[in-house]
This record gives sequence, C-alpha cells and structure tokens, in this order.
Amino acid sequence: MRGRFITVEGIEGVGKSTIVPFVQQKLEAEGRIVHVTREPGGTKLAEAVRDLLLSDWAETILPQTELLLMFASRAQHVSTVIEPTLQAGTDVVCERFTDASMAYQGGGRGIEDSFIESLAQLTHGETSPDLTLYLDLDVEESSFRTQNRRKDRIEQEDLDFFQRVRNAYRKLASKHQRIVTIDASRSLQEVESSVATALAGLNK
Ligand code: TMP
Repeated sequence: MRGRFITVEGIEGVGKSTIVPFVQQKLEAEGRIVHVTREPGGTKLAEAVRDLLLSDWAETILPQTELLLMFASRAQHVSTVIEPTLQAGTDVVCERFTDASMAYQGGGRGIEDSFIESLAQLTHGETSPDLTLYLDLDVEESSFRTQNRRKDRIEQEDLDFFQRVRNAYRKLASKHQRIVTIDASRSLQEVESSVATALAGLNK
C-alpha cells in the first residue's frame, strides 16, 4: 500500500517544527513507518539549493529566480526521495511543499498562480499531498514570536509581505479540501488536538 504524503505549512513562527515531530509520533503510534523531510531541501543537492536560496546576496534575487530554484530543489526531492518513499509504503511528512511556493512566490512576490501551477505539474504531476496541515496565525503574532530569531533572506521581508503570504495560504485552504486550517494562536495542547483529529481523517 502506498504511503501517505502529509505536508505542514504556514508563515514563520506558527510552530511547524514543533508539530512535525508530533505528527511523526502519532503516525508511528499507528504502526506506520515515517520519513520526515523539508523543503527547500531533503536531498544533498536540494539542501545546497536551499543554502543558495536563503543566503544573503549582494545582487537582487529575482522572484523568477527564487521560484525556479524552489522548483529545482523540489524536482530532485520528489523524484529521488518523496515518490520512491511513498511507493515503498512509508508515510512522508514534509515541512513545506508547493503550497509554500503559491503563498511566498505567488502571494508574496506576485508571480501568477498559473506559472506556479505549470511548474508543479512539470515537477510532481503525479505526486500531491493527501493532507496538508496549515497552521494559521496573524502576522503581528508571527513577527512577535520570531523577533529574537536569526532571520534568513526571505524571513527578513516586512509585515506586508507576510500578510500577502498568509492571504494566499488562506485562499488555498478555502480551495482545497486536503488543506486543514489549524488556529495556531491557541495553546500547544489545543493545536496538537486539532492535528490529531486531522490525522484521524486520513484513515477514513
Ligand atoms: P524554513 O525551512 O525556515 O521554513 O525556511 C524556508 C524559507 O523558504 C521560508 O522563508 C519559506 C521559504 N519558501 C518559499 O518561499 N517557497 C517555497 O516553495 C518553500 C518550500 C519555502
């Protein structure tokens, strides 16, 4: 039986990195084998592309360059890791995937959805998440939670950028049934309980 592909999405500071181990634990408790990964990244080459994407450059990185690098790393990650792992019957939990490109490069940078959808089709036409946990939080709270973190190139953007990213995530969530919106402003216990309910839906 094919594994289940679960992605975790949201702007900075919503608790994705805390929720991913919880998801892994929950699935393992059901007897599943779980592979945890992230984007951009997940293979040696894709992690090298991640470094390119997140470091500061003296020259301006064009939105198109950013988008293509995201998809270059994704193509490699999907074909060499995600898809073979799912085919082997292992569940894959991935922190961020194509919804992040729709939100950041689409909503944030203003690239048209149709271009991103074409790249998604080219890169992983056959592979899409079974469940996406979208952790939703307002941008002021996100900024407050991340104020003491060292920020990468993209995280250094202003609140307006993250507002557009959040709006794009919310629009995606209203469009796709696979996306479950989780209110990340609540306590960790409440967030985990909503995540557990969403995961239970995978078995129906
Ligand atoms: P993170 O691993 O700390 O979340 O950092 C990844 C950064 O890359 C984050 O700022 C979101 C951004 N990103 C995009 O802009 N588009 C994408 O498609 C993905 C996967 C990530």
